[in-house]
Amino acid sequence: MSTTDVLEAEYRDGQIRTHGPEGFEGMRKAGRLAAECLDMLTPHVVPGVVTDDLDRMAREFILDHGALPACLFYRGYSKTVCISVNHVVCHGIPGERVLREGDIANIDVTCIVDGWHGDHSRMYGVGPVSARSKRLVEVTYESIARGIAAVKPGATTGDIGHAIQSYVESMRCSVVRDFCGHGLGKVFHDAPNILHFGQPGQGEVLKAGMFFTIEPMVNLGKPSVKVLADGWTAVTRDKSLSAQCEHSIGVTEDGAEIFTASPAGLFQPPIETA
Ligand code: MF3
Ligand code: CO
Ligand code: CO
Repeated sequence: MSTTDVLEAEYRDGQIRTHGPEGFEGMRKAGRLAAECLDMLTPHVVPGVVTDDLDRMAREFILDHGALPACLFYRGYSKTVCISVNHVVCHGIPGERVLREGDIANIDVTCIVDGWHGDHSRMYGVGPVSARSKRLVEVTYESIARGIAAVKPGATTGDIGHAIQSYVESMRCSVVRDFCGHGLGKVFHDAPNILHFGQPGQGEVLKAGMFFTIEPMVNLGKPSVKVLADGWTAVTRDKSLSAQCEHSIGVTEDGAEIFTASPAGLFQPPIETA
């Protein structure tokens, strides 16, 4: 067990927390910075860019804003962002890899502002991409929109999962089962788990003041994934393309507040086709 495991064991006690106005204020700041970080990266996600350079830009941006990169040194992870390209499902590690025209890439960033975590990811098209890649990305964005639309007090985590799964499968794509959304706040990965599949009415009942992420991973092929020898990089077993997007949200009296909305309107960056 590492030091971070011990610390997390203290903080993640299985209880689902609810938060008041100061929590919402804290999450707005953290979520906005995560969104601004991905806004800042947008013009740099072009053919020829090295993924480690995007990671450095994100790290400097976060530190320059007086915040901390939550992933850096988290459970042995050594980068600020995850960059998951093509058949990488999530937790791709930035490095020497050069992005090429036609790639689709998810960039996932988490910043800590005054102790609060803003966790957020988007899909980027690297130059023009194939029509099937663009369609997968659009299905993924529509799935998170449907998941968020299911959020309100009295609804359940199963309602969220069902909204996502039923839509994704109706589009002949599949939902990854091995990773889920999570409660967050002062803790990075807290209760409850937010599965991206499920049955209406099942799971935890949502209450105003709960904070969690929704972060569906959608594959063009089968849902199964495997983690590579680096201990992080998750890929589709059938090598089919995968896409993901993530928001941090709070449950309000009548729905959801998205903490990671893009000030520049770039949550779904435009994707060109070849
Ligand atoms: N940001 C990821 C999430 O959505 C977690 C990445 S953990 C890391 O929960 F260590 F891989 F960065
Ligand atoms: Co997350
Ligand atoms: Co994330």
